[in-house]
Amino acid sequence: MSGRTQLWVEKYRPTRIDDLASQEEVTKTLRGAIAQGQLPHLLMYGPPGTGKTSTILAVARTLYHPSVLKDRVLEMNASDERGIKIVRDKIKNFASHSVSSQKFDGYPSPPFKIIILDECDSMTKDAQGALRRTMEVYSSTTRFCLICNYVSRIIEPLVSRCAKLRFSPLGRDAMQKRLLDIASAQDVNYDATIYDQILDRSGGDMRRAVTLLQSCHTFYGDKTPNVEELSGGVPASLIEPLWTAVKANNLTEMSRLIDSLTLEGYSAATCFSELHDIVLKDAAVTDAQKATFFEAVAAADKCLADGANDHLQLQTVCAVLCH
Ligand SMILES: Nc1ncnc2c1ncn2[C@@H]1O[C@H](COP(=O)(O)OP(=O)(O)O)[C@@H](O)[C@H]1O
Ligand SMILES: [Mg+2]
Repeated sequence: MSGRTQLWVEKYRPTRIDDLASQEEVTKTLRGAIAQGQLPHLLMYGPPGTGKTSTILAVARTLYHPSVLKDRVLEMNASDERGIKIVRDKIKNFASHSVSSQKFDGYPSPPFKIIILDECDSMTKDAQGALRRTMEVYSSTTRFCLICNYVSRIIEPLVSRCAKLRFSPLGRDAMQKRLLDIASAQDVNYDATIYDQILDRSGGDMRRAVTLLQSCHTFYGDKTPNVEELSGGVPASLIEPLWTAVKANNLTEMSRLIDSLTLEGYSAATCFSELHDIVLKDAAVTDAQKATFFEAVAAADKCLADGANDHLQLQTVCAVLCH
């Protein structure tokens, strides 16, 4: 791929464990395992864009010589591959080929293969149960690396078979440093306030931050970018009046603004996340009211996850503070 069209998230994906920003606990644990050429089954969990996929790929690169990497590592997305049967067949096929005992200088080349299963939390409980059996059958020749956002959605028998590695949202300083490094490598020179805005809108998700930086560069070049517009965030000119209307118990205005937000195509989830920041900072709202509001947002979030209507959820949450 040419340098111009390459995605920066891929171009600047950490390739070695030492390149990972933050996640010290995780890297410390893994370094120990690699030094011994040993690897337990792993369960990596944490929010998106915190380095889970990059980490396991970096581990694989440390263990195996590039020429055998493809034979040793199988990467699958549990949510793509429909049904456990396909997953099982693929795993069976991959695991049943024996690994060569060929050693390379500088690579531990342990005698097992690595199977990476991304987005495990989207597998049904039954599929996870079947996976447990598969893991047992092939455990002498393979190591599984299960990746997910929510560890609570993984069944206990799987969790208990794996070493758990928790990935946290990246700290602001670490993200800023990384972002500035990428900017300077790409010859991007924005004001400090632009990087601040990008970080504000990324919430510890490095993939989001890097993608946003590249969008700024693509769409605005050297001009000052409109980060709010590019991040798909709700414009302050819509969300702030909504909050004012809610506080004033002005139901008509509240309904009108919610209508225009939905008509403009903003999802309830984005509106909630903007409202969350505004409400949190609003000194005129009591702690008890904030708590009530956040509780309503949490309930709405669950409803949205279950497929509820955005417009109605927005109205429900806003109505909670009207009386
Ligand atoms: N800890 C990190 N240090 C540096 N860059 C990171 C880190 N986590 C994520 N990134 C950036 O975000 C991109 C996506 O990371 P990835 O490992 O795929 O995240 P996850 O699998 O947790 O969603 C990477 O290509 C990299 O550019
Ligand atoms: Mg990933």
